[in-house]
This record gives sequence, structure tokens and C-alpha cells, in this order.
Amino acid sequence: MLLRAWRPEDRAPFAALNADPTVMEHFPAPLSLGESNQMADRIAERFARDGWGLWAVEVTVSGGFAGFVGLNRPRFSARFTPAVEVGWRLAQSYWHQGYATEAARAALAFGFEWLELEEIVSFSSKSNLRSQRVMERLGMRRNASDDFAHPGLPPGHPLGPHVLYRLSRSEWTLARDPEQRTSTPTSGPGAASSDSSELDAGSSPSAGSGRRPSSGAASAVEPSLTIG
Ligand SMILES: CC(C)(COP(=O)(O)OP(=O)(O)OC[C@H]1O[C@@H](n2cnc3c(N)ncnc32)[C@H](O)[C@@H]1OP(=O)(O)O)[C@@H](O)C(=O)NCCC(=O)NCCS
Repeated sequence: MLLRAWRPEDRAPFAALNADPTVMEHFPAPLSLGESNQMADRIAERFARDGWGLWAVEVTVSGGFAGFVGLNRPRFSARFTPAVEVGWRLAQSYWHQGYATEAARAALAFGFEWLELEEIVSFSSKSNLRSQRVMERLGMRRNASDDFAHPGLPPGHPLGPHVLYRLSRSEWTLARDPEQRTSTPTSGPGAASSDSSELDAGSSPSAGSGRRPSSGAASAVEPSLTIG
């Protein structure tokens, strides 16, 4: 699996998954082609600005675009914002195979090791138990006092009630499987990886330099993450 920058040819399969009522069950509505393309534009703009974001997920065995997994700054205001969230949306044919969890682990590693974030959150509507299971598999924790009503939805909307899961850098460090522990984050992308995930220096001049960027330089990086 590869987490990579978006390509123009991702737009059609992205529109198809955004139009799928099952994929969009926990969102207000499926997206039209125009709405899907607008979302792809926003993702691309953020990548250009930050050098990271919601990566396109490519399942390398099939060469197919599966959806997105990555990091994002929520645009709305809530008690827990500003924050960086980890999020995912995959086409149904890629569910039930562990891709979301595996890709999200790589995104968390990127956020903690490269961006040096102190905390990464994730949230979903209360009804989205499949997504919450991914959060739990990642070792994220929910505190009911963090539950919130999504400010983008009108009061009383059935998808309004949301749960928030958090993962701190120290919890993430403690929970990591020793086999997946990176020896030293300053020894570069190859070493900032495990057997199952690695930062691919191919598209990243900074990553290719063999050094992790300082937090300030992280925004200049446009890495891909190769997994499995
Ligand atoms: C949320 C979403 C990404 C979860 O997908 P998923 O397939 O359930 O999650 P994972 O990719 O982690 O896969 C876990 C499943 O793969 C199985 N699996 C198989 N091999 C595995 C492996 N090597 N590692 C982990 N899980 C594996 C697990 O047992 C689990 O099975 P289950 O679906 O029968 O419970 C997907 O449902 C989705 O895209 N939904 C629509 C968009 C959405 O709601 N996004 C979130 C908004 S908050």
C-alpha cells in the first residue's frame, strides 16, 4: 500500500466512492461529481500549502486508488480545536482488509515523528461504529466528556452527536510495538520506518536528505508513505 500525493486520475474513483450511499452513510449526503472535485481541490491545496494532509491511498497489488487516509486540520471550531485529526475514507471494495488501520498508523507516525505533534485526534458521528473501531485499533481513547455536537450540522440532525478520540504523543510512544519502534527519528526516512511502513523518499527532497525536518521545515516535505 502506498500513501501518496493525489493524481488527476484519482478524481473519477474518488467521485465514485463519494457517490456511494454506503460509504457516505454517516455523512449528511453522498457527494455530487462537482462536490467531490471541490473536495479533491481542497485536499490538493492543503498538500501544496503544508506538504502533508489526506494522502491518496493506492493499493499496490491492484494499482488501484482506494480512497484517502491522512492528517487534516478541522476547519470548524470546537472545544478541541485547533487540532490535527487523523481521518479516512475508502471505497467499499477496500473495506475489511485492515487498510485503513494500517495506513492510519503510518499517518500517526508521520504526525508524531515528523510534525512533532503532541496530540492527534479523530472524530466521527456516534453512529459510525466502523470508524470508531479503527480509532480503537489505533490505541486512541474516547472520553465521554469530549463528545460534541458537530457545529456544521443543524441542532437535532441525527448525525450531529459526535465522539472524539485522542492520542497523545506519549501514549503513542508507549503503545508502540517494540518491533515497530524507530531507532532514531534523526536518522532519516529509511530508519523512520518499520518492517511494515516506511517513508518513501522518492517524492521528498527533504526526506531524501536523510534527516527528519525540524518542525518548521516539515511543511516543505511532500512525502509518500509506503506500507507493507
Ligand atoms: C471507516 C472505514 C475506513 C473502516 O474500514 P474497515 O475496513 O472497517 O477498517 P480497516 O481497514 O481497519 O479494516 C478492519 C477490518 O479488516 C480486517 N482485517 C483483515 N486483515 C487485517 C489486518 N491485517 N489488520 C487489521 N485488520 C484486518 C479486520 O478484522 C476488520 O474486519 P471487519 O471489517 O470484519 O471488522 C470504512 O468503513 C470507510 O471508508 N467508511 C466510510 C467513510 C467513513 O465513514 N469515514 C470516517 C468518517 S469519521
